[in-house]
Parts: sequence; structure tokens; C-alpha cells
Amino acid sequence: MSILYDAQAAAFTLHTQNTTYQMQVARTGHLLHLYYGRRTGGDCLDYQYVPMDAGFSPNAYELRYQRTASVDLQPQEYSSENTGDFRLSALEVTLGNGAFGTDLRYKSHAILPGKYRVEGMPAAFAGDGEAETLIITLEDAASHLQVELLYGVFSGKDIITRAARLRNAGTGTITLQKAASMVLDLPFGHWDLLHFHGRHCMERMPQRMPLIRGIQTVASRRGASSHHHNPFVILCDHRCDENHGDCIGLMLVYSGNHRTDVEVDQMSSTRVVMGIHDEQFNWTLAPGEVFHTPEVLLTFSHRGLTALSHTYHRFLRQNIIRSRWNTRQRPVLINNWEATYFNFTAEKILQLAEQAAALGVEMLVLDDGWFGQRNDDNAGLGDWYVNTKKLPGGLDPLIEKINALGMKFGIWVEPEMVSEDSDLYRAHPEWALTVPDRKPVMSRNQLVLDMADPAVIEYLYTQFSALLREHHIEYVKWDMNRNMADVYSHSLPAARQGEVFHRYILGVYGLLERLTSEFPDVLFEGCAGGGGRYDAGMMYYFPQIWCSDDTDAIERMTIQHGTSFGYPISTVGAHVSASPNHQTGRTTPLGTRALVAMAGTFGYELDLGKLTDGEKEQIKEQIQRFHRYYDLIQNGDYYRLTDPQEQSYFNAWEFAAPDGSRALLNLVVTHARANPNGVHFRLKGLDLDALYAVGELHCDGCEVALEERSERLISGSSLMYAGYTLPLMRGDYPCVQMLFVRR
Ligand code: GLA
Repeated sequence: MSILYDAQAAAFTLHTQNTTYQMQVARTGHLLHLYYGRRTGGDCLDYQYVPMDAGFSPNAYELRYQRTASVDLQPQEYSSENTGDFRLSALEVTLGNGAFGTDLRYKSHAILPGKYRVEGMPAAFAGDGEAETLIITLEDAASHLQVELLYGVFSGKDIITRAARLRNAGTGTITLQKAASMVLDLPFGHWDLLHFHGRHCMERMPQRMPLIRGIQTVASRRGASSHHHNPFVILCDHRCDENHGDCIGLMLVYSGNHRTDVEVDQMSSTRVVMGIHDEQFNWTLAPGEVFHTPEVLLTFSHRGLTALSHTYHRFLRQNIIRSRWNTRQRPVLINNWEATYFNFTAEKILQLAEQAAALGVEMLVLDDGWFGQRNDDNAGLGDWYVNTKKLPGGLDPLIEKINALGMKFGIWVEPEMVSEDSDLYRAHPEWALTVPDRKPVMSRNQLVLDMADPAVIEYLYTQFSALLREHHIEYVKWDMNRNMADVYSHSLPAARQGEVFHRYILGVYGLLERLTSEFPDVLFEGCAGGGGRYDAGMMYYFPQIWCSDDTDAIERMTIQHGTSFGYPISTVGAHVSASPNHQTGRTTPLGTRALVAMAGTFGYELDLGKLTDGEKEQIKEQIQRFHRYYDLIQNGDYYRLTDPQEQSYFNAWEFAAPDGSRALLNLVVTHARANPNGVHFRLKGLDLDALYAVGELHCDGCEVALEERSERLISGSSLMYAGYTLPLMRGDYPCVQMLFVRR
């Protein structure tokens, strides 16, 4: 039993292997949050909260004479405005009579086997006996709005999921102005906020800052989880680092507008509120109706950030990603985008496939430009029929030839968008999100389809299910290349326009649910101009996501480093591209580009016709090597050995087999220096008492000889505590990859 209810103390205790979460129903019926942290014996922690009467912090009516327990001072489990808790609220509503706020009190609870579901949205799933559910129902007596707080306890995984279900059990219509997924009050401790900001071509840059009094916000109002603020934050104790200390992760399973506020109040208590962004959000809840918030994946680690990342990596792979491809070996691919952009013919694509097949590449992905009048990015989106000028005879002759080379065929689509210059827009201008009588804001000269309109979803389902049914397509790259403005649905009445952002993403999820269930063997890769929708919601449908449009290996190290805090390596779409790089103009060795792309799903995206014979031989070897290391990279534990944002002259990361039998060290020198020290690193995740040998060593741009290094046996403890030093490496961006094998 991981969920315990102590009737005498009216306390709920949720235990996982290493953590405890506790709540209590106060005498007033308010649901208090008592604790989240390292596992305790489970005794009630209410003694931590001393009664106090602080000026200007009001009391519930029942406590007007005692004045000892203000909702403004006590840690709350789900807060509401206009009730005397002046901190951030999770819920903001207007009742039928115009009144703001709800006074939520305990009504009932249920403890159930298995994991609750979140209707219409991605959420964690559980294997047999893996999870238990707690539902605590709170009710506002005035409106009969019921809030069901849902807790999914995955005791063996150290994850607690949270979501809320809002039910209008009254007779009047209620308007939700804000409906967050959860609140977490941390009355004690001093925390840093670690979040992941960015921009197009520079996603998920970690930023860590001490919390200050007041409110700090991480949010997106772009209609997508965004390149700019990932819906994932970590609160770290000041002393927490990769290997030590307390940290709490909060990951939203949602791909639309999101908001995380962290407030430090008058008493130094910290409150986190996470959920759907409340701007341009307004949801009408008629009597009997239910609103589901997205889910949050919560975890706590007392062993620092690496352990927290490992918890998320395992959980996403085992309890979020459903695709059959999650555990299958993904094909090494060649994508034609940076090889040809829009300028291709069937012969050119076939030639690329032939060149790639000869090197051992297993799949060709035909990117943007194969459909409609899509000769540049000004036209054609929405017209999902083959451009026969480029591909005479359609897709099938090309697919057959590619299959005959022993390769799979994959294709790029961007279903959620429409070009003004397209047959679809000419036929259905009302299917685009546009404000009546206003010229729409353009981005990449395209408009966003109204995914809140069931007619649009039906049309897209018909188009894309036919595409997948009629052609032998084994992979789909699902792109989404602009953020939203002019968010107005021509299919909804005026009073419902505040629902469009959320209904949009529900429409996307519904469509993905149908297509991924109907075509379970198709490998779907998510994309939004690179990693603009790199979130756990998308991973429910897509086992991999194109990590960034920045394919420069040196920049990618920072992007992939930031991504790794929450998301598993098996989800990271990563390719070797041309040098000089198309985004930065930087020149890097081919070996370094491959090393960085190997911290992901691995593929190529360049004109193979321009390579020398020597480079082609290198690629053959890289693909064979990736196959040999596949299991270690995809299923091993990932360790960040350096922080690329620090001013060091090299970056290093490692994959270690969970049983300590093998470890793969990856290292890139980022800054050539005269007369430097050797390059020193410490390995992680090894078997302390075992002896290791260097089984394989690969380098590009350096002169580290294998022979000298392979004979010596070194103990796991020496490699982990004392470390390992490589000799001087010269020039621009040399790299080393070393396989340590237990003897
Ligand atoms: C986006 C993707 C790229 C490529 C282009 C095609 O930017 O992230 O990989 O597919 O679209 O237009």
C-alpha cells in the first residue's frame, strides 16, 4: 500500500520508494499540504505548523475567535482566490451571480488500485500493480463546484502524478478563468529555480537562480509549449548539484500554453502553481460538465540532479511513451532537408538514397516540398497531394525504388498549418485562425488551422490516414512551424473564444490518438521548427522529437545537455550535417559531428554527393559503431560530466550500463589552447570494485593512441574517484569516444 489514510489525524500519506508526500484535512475542512520530500516513517507532520495569528492574514469564519490558522499562512493543497489566501491561486472562477472565487472544503476521498485517466489528454499509464490512485474531492458550498484532486502514486518509480478534475455539480453556469493542475507549498527551505528557456535554434538552456520574494514565472502563450520556456522546472536546494542535495522536479504533460509561477511569500514559504496558462483562457462549465486539467509528473531526489534526471528518463520511457518504436531499434536515417531544401527532383532524392544505402543508412526521409505547389515556404501547406512535377508518377515509384535499396521510406508533414496560397485556404478560409475584419499576423508566411474545429480534424484525419494507408510510409515527421496569433475560431460562439487555445491542443491530441493507434508501426517523430514542442505530452504520441533546427555540433552539445535534465536520450532527434554548418558557419570534424548526433536517435542530413571517399568510409564506420553502442546509448544511464555553460575547454558526457558492465565516454574539446593541462574527467555509474579496460577508442582531430591505453586495467573506484586524463588535443573541436569494459 503506497497510499495511507489515517482517519484519526485525517491525514493522507503517499509513499514511494524514496519519497513521502503528506496532506491533512484541517478542522475547517481545508486540505493542507504537510510535506513532500525524502521518505519518512509516515507519522503525521502537522506538529511542524505552529498556530499563529499574523496581522492581515485572515481566518475562516469558524476560527474568528481563535484566529490561529489562516489560509494565508498554512500550506494549501489547491488554492483559490477571494478566500483570504493572498498567495497564488490555482483556481479562479466566476459564479453565475458574478462572485469570484470558491471556498473549497473536503467532501470525500477514494483510494483505488491502478492509475486514473485524464480524458482526452496524454497522461502516464501504469503496468499491473504499478500504481495506486488517490482522489480527494473538495467542494465549494455556494456553487457546488467540485474539485477532484487526482494523485497517481508510482511507488517503485519515485513519481507522483497530479491532475485536477473540476465538476459543476450545481445548477448555475460557472466560468473558469484559471484552472491549474497543481499547487505545491514548501513552507521550509531556500530554493533555487532551475528552468529551461531558449529560442528557435537554441532550445532548453538551463538557467538556475535563487528564488527571491515575489513571483517568478516560466510560461508560454504561443499556443505551443515553445522553444522559449519548457514546461518543466526543478526546484533545487541551494547546495544541490549533480550528485548531492534535494531537488524537486515538476513536469507538465501538455503541449499548449502553460504557466508555472513560483512565489516566495511574507513567511519565506514557497508556492509553485503549474498548469495551463490563464491568459486568453476562459472556460464555460455548465451544470453537470467536467473540465480536466493536464497532468504533472512530480519527483523528489535527495541525491542531486543526475538521480532526478534518471527518474524522469525511465519514467517517460516506461510510462509515457507508448509507441512500439520506444523499445525497437530506430533506423539510422538520411533526411534531405539540409541536403537539398526545396530544390529536389525524384532523381536527386533517389541518388541521395543510393549514396546513403551504400554507407549503411537504413531510411530516407523526404522532408518539406513534396506536395502541392510547395517550391518555397510561401505556398502549398494544406494541399497534401503529391507534386508530380517533382515526383512524376507520385510517391509510389520513388518508395519502391528506395525499398529496393533495402531502405525504409519516411515523409515530412505539417498538418496543423495552411498557406494563404493553397487550394485548401481558397476553399476554406474559415478553417484558419483569424480575427474577423483584421489582417492576420503572418509567420513563415503561413496561418494556423483551427484545430478546435471538428470539421478541420476530420479533414486532416481523412488526408493523413489515406496517405499512410495508400503508401508504404514507415516514418512520419510531424512538424509545426509557427506560433499563434489571431486566435479566434470561426466554429465557436463569442462566449467560447477563451476555450480555443486549449481546444486546439485537444484537437491535436485527438487526431494523433487516431493516427498513432491506426498506424502503430509507423515511427512518428515530433517537430516544431526543431524543439518548439519538446514536451512529455508530445512524447505520449512521438517516441522521438527533432531536438533543434540548430545542427551545429558545438551548439547542440548545450542544447542536448539542457534537454537531458528531463527528457531521455532515446527521444532526442539528432543528425550529422554539413561543415561549415548551415546555421552557424562553423567548421567541425566529421567525427565530432557524429559523436554529438550519437547522443540521440542518430542520422545524417547533408549532401552525401559532396563527401570525399575518406569521409564516406568514416560514415560507414560511424554507423557500425552506433549499432554496436545502440543499447548502451538508448537504454543506459546518461551522465552529464561537465556543464557546457561553464567556461571549460571541453564538454564530456557518458552512457553507463545500469549494471556497470560498460560505459561510453564522449568528449569534445571546444576551445583550443596553447600549453594546456591534459583533459581530465571522472567517470560515473561504474562498479567500484571491478576492473575496467579501454575496449574501444575513437578520436577525430587528435592523436590519442589506442595501443597505449588498452592494456592497462583500472578499477571502477579509481576511474570514478581519481578520474582519467587524456593527453593534449590540438586544433578545432577534436573529439574522443572511449568504451570502458568491465573485465
Ligand atoms: C522545420 C523543421 C526542419 C525542416 C523544415 C522544413 O524548420 O524543424 O527540420 O523540416 O521545417 O520546412
